This record gives sequence, structure tokens and C-alpha cells, in this order.
Amino acid sequence: MCGIVGVLGNHEAAPILVEALKRLEYRGYDSAGIATVNAGKLARRRAVGKLVNLGDLLVHEPLAGKSGIGHTRWATHGEPNATNAHPHRSGPVAVVHNGIIENFRELRAELAQHGLTPQTDTDTETVAMLAQHFMDGGMSATDAAIATLGKLHGAFALAFLFDGEEDLMIAARKGSPLAIGYGDGEMFVGSDAIALSPMTDRISYLEEGDYAILTRAGASVFTADGKAVDREIRKIEVGATRIDKAGHKHFMAKEIAEQPTVIAETLANYISKSGEIRLPDPQIDFSKVDRITMVACGTASLACLTAKYWFEQIARLPVEVDVASEFRYREPPIPARSVSLFVSQSGETADTLAALRYCAGKADNIVSVVNVPESSIARESDLALPIYAGVEVGVASTKAFTCQLTVLFVLALKAASQRGELTDAQLQDHIAQLRRLPALMAEALDQNAKVKETARKLSSARDVLFLGRGPLYPLAHEGALKLKEISYIHAEAYASGELKHGPIALIDENMPVVVMAPRDRLFDKTVSNMQEVMARKGKVILVSDREGLSEASIGVWDTIEMPDVSDAVAPILYAIPAQLLAYHTAVAKGTDVDQPRNLAKSVTVE
Ligand code: G6P
Repeated sequence: MCGIVGVLGNHEAAPILVEALKRLEYRGYDSAGIATVNAGKLARRRAVGKLVNLGDLLVHEPLAGKSGIGHTRWATHGEPNATNAHPHRSGPVAVVHNGIIENFRELRAELAQHGLTPQTDTDTETVAMLAQHFMDGGMSATDAAIATLGKLHGAFALAFLFDGEEDLMIAARKGSPLAIGYGDGEMFVGSDAIALSPMTDRISYLEEGDYAILTRAGASVFTADGKAVDREIRKIEVGATRIDKAGHKHFMAKEIAEQPTVIAETLANYISKSGEIRLPDPQIDFSKVDRITMVACGTASLACLTAKYWFEQIARLPVEVDVASEFRYREPPIPARSVSLFVSQSGETADTLAALRYCAGKADNIVSVVNVPESSIARESDLALPIYAGVEVGVASTKAFTCQLTVLFVLALKAASQRGELTDAQLQDHIAQLRRLPALMAEALDQNAKVKETARKLSSARDVLFLGRGPLYPLAHEGALKLKEISYIHAEAYASGELKHGPIALIDENMPVVVMAPRDRLFDKTVSNMQEVMARKGKVILVSDREGLSEASIGVWDTIEMPDVSDAVAPILYAIPAQLLAYHTAVAKGTDVDQPRNLAKSVTVE
């Protein structure tokens, strides 16, 4: 899983490639590399670690040429070292790849019989070797690339560049997305449109199995079986393509702080001034729906788990939630009168996309909740609901999570009123509570300095538990996930009531326990579970409102005060202390907040 880019341009390619790779670093940052053709000669530069290392290398060893390909890597096959970094080269062929070539071992064995041996541990190198093999046999560069594609199993977005060919690039996609950018006498390819946004806003997308032959004059696109096709070129608005931290130390801090603004934006897009919920077409009639299946990965799956409480309690609609990697192979029956709903910030997560494809044609409606409207998941849905979070750069999802929750809550309200489960007055009450959210979030953010102090204490912990009940239970999971991801502290979440069934054995004086407990109808029960922790010397950090804290903070280790909020909306607000706790703990520990080890923002392989 990686980001790829290619350019056939009129200017030096190296800086353009590096600029595009910056926008793709969310796909991985184990290594980066570029290759160019200059005066007919293919050459490459590769560096381990983040893109800045490649930048440094290029200062000392510049690479000239106006045609090039580039790559940022999240290692799958072979450890992240310079040898395994892309572009991979075999004789006259250089290749960058996003995906996994599943039959690379068989292909390697075949190639060995022709005297070609790999120099790296990667699956990708086999692609370059195959193309070389076909060229050795007399094929043209283009024919060799096409023949190579026919031999590959698995998932790929690929770009090929060739020695001696300064006006030729072959690009192909199967499973992984690939955009083609149309410039003025220049052509580009990239894993997404944002990567290409500084160069062009005229974009087409390759469809499953397509390959394209690019020259500076344009692109000829073909289906997998070689039929010429037109793929619509659209003007893509990627918005203000920001890559700045707006004065914050990290993107994550900026994105946490942006939440009052982006939530207001999301609400404005879904709720009219007069309080009417407006969803994009096609409309779904939830009175004809008996079940919702929600599928997602990571933080997005925790947004689904939270939404389950809303759809079931408010709309009286049964919801099943599954992580995409399990769902897609479980072969679950998809009942009639059902909606399959997929939540994904990037809209490109491979498992979620595969789960969507499993449901296509089976469920009555395929709905997605996405941040990237041009993404594969959005494009393959009957109805795509944008979350309007703006570009999220930090690998740990923050504002996308709360915007996902907001859209899902609005959808639950729509379903509830269509199903006759909410009176107009009740609906308007929920909407009024939702509209308070941006101001409440701003108030919650005022706790930043306090949370920072708490986080300093938390940073010496080895393990941390998070507890919550009802819709705060999935949020406890999100708190634990955030902390694990960026501070590398082991954290677990439990439903408060489940603690006594095993995990309580872990409690001792070294175990901080974060309890997410607004003063709601389940508060007293959660407080009882909290007392069980304190009786065993566990160190409780109680996150609650003024009333909750005044009732229950005696004997706790620390407290974080939240503004009062309605029960239903509480998980959206309480996401803020969960995020801030993880953020400040990571900063106190000195870990890489925006690009934590081993992770990538968008996981486009299984
Ligand atoms: C990765 C990211 C997570 C994210 C998950 C799902 O694991 O590190 O932060 O929640 O993918 O991504 P998606 O783009 O589908 O929401």
C-alpha cells in the first residue's frame, strides 16, 4: 500500500514528483523514491524513511529529466530499506506500484528459468523483471507492459517508465485507484486527484482493469481485454490544497482544533436554516428498510458502532456493524429491504471497498459516508454522503471521526422521522442539540491546558484502560485506539459493566483508567463500576460534566470537565478529550504524532 505518481512534463520532473508525493505521504512513509528518463537514460534515487530524506538526497545527488515516476511506500513485502524502495528497476524498465502482486513467487520461478534473478525482497520488482523479459524477447516497451499486466494476479496501480522513452508512460489499475491528470502538453498519473492538484484539475479515473498509454499529447485508455474506451475527464475541485499546520505544532493539533468549524460546516450542509434535514439524491425511504449493515475499518468502524446506538434507540432500526476485513470473507446474507452503509475517511480502504462490492447488487441501497467525494467508495455507492471535514493529514483520524458521527446522527434522525419514531418537536429538539455542538466543542477545547497536565501523568503508564457505557462505550474504544496509535501505550476499552467479567484482574495502583461518563441516565451505573476500580487502587481519570464531577469525583486521580450536552450527542463532544489526551500523551513521550510508526492513513491493501 503506497502512493504513486508519474509525470510526462515540460519542466524538471523531480521537484514536481516530490511535491505530489508530499500529498500522498498519508499512504505510507517507510521509504520514497523517484526515477526519471533524461537524455534517454533511466536513473533513480531512493531513500529510507520519510520523504524529507529523499529531498535531502536529491539536493546532493540531483536527478534531471522531464519524465518521471515516484513512490511513497508502506512496506508489505520486504523490510523498509533502500533496496526495497520503489521505483524498482529491471534492465530498461522502472516501475512504481501500489498494491500486492499475489503470484509474484510463481512469476519469479518462471523468470529464474530465463536467467532473471531478483535483487530485492519485493513483489513489485517482479513486474519490472517480467516487462524486461518481454522486451528481451523483442517486444516494444508498450507491448511488454501490456503482456506483463496480463500475467499479474492481485491488486495494483502501476506506472511504467522505460529507458530511451522520454515520451511514454504506461499506467494500469486493478483494485487500487489511479487518476490521470491532463495538463497543457503535459500528462500526469497519481494515486489520487489531490496529489495532482498543483499540476491540473482535469482528471479522469481508470476503471477496474484499465490500462493507459500516455504521451505528452494525451492518454489512450483500454479495458483489460484491449478495447479502446473513453473515460470521462472531469474538472475536480479539490479545494484549497492546504498542506500547512496553520501555526500548530502538528497537523493532528490543527485538525482537533478545527472541529467546531468543520462540524458547523457539516451541519450547514445537511440541515436547512428552518431545521429541515436535506440529504443528497437519491433519497432513501427508511420506512421501507428493515435493517442496516454498517461496515468500516479503524476509527470509521467506531463511528459505525456509535451510530448503532442512535439508529436502534432513536429510529428503532436494527443495525449490524462489522469490520470490513471480517465482513468481506464471512459471506453474510444480505436481507431484502436493507441498506448497506460504508464509512471511510479516505474512501479508498481496500477492505471496505471489497465489502461494498460484496454488497452491491444484494442490498437495496449502497450508501457511503466519505470525506473524499471522488474516492472509489463514493463513486461505487448509490448514495454518497460527504462529511465535509476538509483534508485530514494526521494519520490518527480526529475531525473526520466527529464529522462521520455528525452525518450518521443526522441520517439516524432522518430515518427516525420517516419511520414515525420521532415527533416533529422531538426532531427539532435533537437538531437544536446538534446545533449547539460547535460552541460546546469550542468550550471542550478550552480544557486543552488541563488535559495536557493529565496527559503528562498518563505518559509514564504502561497500560491504560478506557471505560464507557451506552454510546460512550464505542468512544472508549476510540480513546484507546488513539492512545495506542500515537503514543504506543498499550490501551484497551471495555464496556463499564463488563469490567468485572475479567479485565478487573488487571487493576492495581499502576493502572490509569479513563472513565467517559456524562451525567446521563447510565451515570450511576458507570460510577459504581468506577468505584470498583478505585477500591482496587486503580487510578481513575473521570471525564464528565460539572454535575457528574460534583457527584462522583471524590477519590479519583484526575478529572476533565466537559460542558453539559444531550445524551445522544455526547459521544461527538467527548471525542475531544479522548483526542486531546492521546495527543498530549504522545507529545509528552516525544513520538511522531502525525506519522506514527508502522501506520498509514489510507490502507489500500488487505
Ligand atoms: C487506517 C488509519 C485509521 C483509519 C482506517 C480507516 O488504519 O490509520 O485512522 O480509521 O485506516 O480508514 P478510512 O479512510 O477507511 O476511514
